[in-house]
Amino acid sequence: MRLSCLSSAGVEGVDGYPVTVEVSRSEPASGPGRIHVVGLPDAAVREAVDRVTTAIFASDLHHNPGDLLVVNLAPGDRRKEGPAFELAIALGALATIDRNRLQLPEDCLFVAELALDGSLRPVRGVLAAAQAARSQGLKRLMVAPDNAAEASLVPGLSVHAPSNLREAVAWLRQGLDQAPRCQPPAEDPGAPISDLDLADVRGQDQAKRALVIAAAGGHNLLFIGPPGSGKTMLAKRLPGILPPLGDDEALEVTRIHSVAGLYDGRRGLYRQRPFRSPHHSVSAVGLVGGGAVPRPGEVSLAHHGVLFLDELPEFPRRVLEHLRQPLEDGELTISRAAGRLRFPARCMLVAAMNPCPCGYLGHPVRACVDSREAIHRYRAHISGPLLDRIDCHLEVAAQPVEQMTRANPGPSSAELRLQVLATRERMFARQGCANGQLVGRALLRHAAPEPDAQALLHQAIGELGLSNRAHDRILRVARTIADLEGAAQAAIEHISEAIGYRLLDRSSW
Ligand SMILES: Nc1ncnc2c1ncn2[C@@H]1O[C@H](COP(=O)(O)OP(=O)(O)O)[C@@H](O)[C@H]1O
Ligand SMILES: [Mg+2]
Ligand SMILES: [Zn+2]
Repeated sequence: MRLSCLSSAGVEGVDGYPVTVEVSRSEPASGPGRIHVVGLPDAAVREAVDRVTTAIFASDLHHNPGDLLVVNLAPGDRRKEGPAFELAIALGALATIDRNRLQLPEDCLFVAELALDGSLRPVRGVLAAAQAARSQGLKRLMVAPDNAAEASLVPGLSVHAPSNLREAVAWLRQGLDQAPRCQPPAEDPGAPISDLDLADVRGQDQAKRALVIAAAGGHNLLFIGPPGSGKTMLAKRLPGILPPLGDDEALEVTRIHSVAGLYDGRRGLYRQRPFRSPHHSVSAVGLVGGGAVPRPGEVSLAHHGVLFLDELPEFPRRVLEHLRQPLEDGELTISRAAGRLRFPARCMLVAAMNPCPCGYLGHPVRACVDSREAIHRYRAHISGPLLDRIDCHLEVAAQPVEQMTRANPGPSSAELRLQVLATRERMFARQGCANGQLVGRALLRHAAPEPDAQALLHQAIGELGLSNRAHDRILRVARTIADLEGAAQAAIEHISEAIGYRLLDRSSW
């Protein structure tokens, strides 16, 4: 019996995990040859075996039809999903037959699907697999050409991408040191952060101010106003004032998109923070992730970026309820027989809604046609846990037409972004995280306002009947407002501005 052993990787959730592919061959027996797979393969892996056999034949590589090959995927207690092991199985099979000439390097990870003609096909989530290889201490990676750019994003790995099985065999025979290596895709430093500029939005100074505060502190935000007041326009301009992704964040965001099958490997790392704006017809699984083969949902695709829920009351309440846990924990956890899966989901939540079903409540010119009950039902629809998580809610009023033509465009996104960056730096220097992330003792320690500001907050809470949660949210937002001007502690004006962003807490509302 001969045995060959290769490293491969599977992807579960957004994480790669190592899989060892062992192929053993029994001496040719009578009867038809076959390949048998053990080690919890799923249906796709079993199907893969037929493709492997066909690909070996199509590649004109030596194979004894009478061979009995046993393929073991280890660890045996973990369910193996998908076709990523095909290249490893084929090479392992060939090495058991053709051992003397085919050297299998131990420091190489093999991840690719095989087409029937023997060509290598890309797989989803190759970046996660490459990161797994790196953390196992492997030095090389063999993938399909269409995965080469993406796999090359992980520093410290040499990536080889033969176009088919024959070429893979030829490269292994001559030694991978002599084989062609792929280069990471060039990043385009000139790419604009976003072509949507806040200077396009006339007036709406308070809403712009709230965007800057939210961007600097990582706070959640809700715009309330009549149709056409610019809510959607404002929200879409948030990415343009956010700081770029750091290196680790960029790898994480890129990996999540890759696992979701949404990443074009040639574009390099994601540097801009994601902005996801799902339609209100989105399913619960589409919004938060999961499914039979769990995939990231919108809340994970928005990780390190923005989840924008436009027309919030249109989303079914039972779908929104699912956001509770991921928004609370910054990740979605899915329990499965094989253990828990985690999808990162730390994002800013931005939402927009009309004040009432017809949209015109409080409008200076048009009259609202809704009954009190209709307005109540409309708001009750979104009340509760989700609203509880929103730090700032404010009105975006309709703009008079004269204002639209006359108003000074105000600062550009590029200028506001510098302000956001400087403010973030202050927060990170002080406490190592954005103010939106401050909880418990750290919140008390870093966000305690001046005594008279604290007194004002307590008075306001008494009058408005706010919850403890609202109290903490006001403290965080006030801390950010103070940081915008470099103040050591939040003073009265910072606390009162923060209270001003609690529209929904007013009894008049
Ligand atoms: N403050 C504004 N400055 C410039 N254009 C605006 C402004 N508000 C609204 N608009 C115009 O009206 C359109 C509708 O705005 P939108 O953001 O979709 O409103 P909303 O989401 O509040 O219903 C925009 O595409 C834009 O052309
Ligand atoms: Mg809109
Ligand atoms: Zn109305």
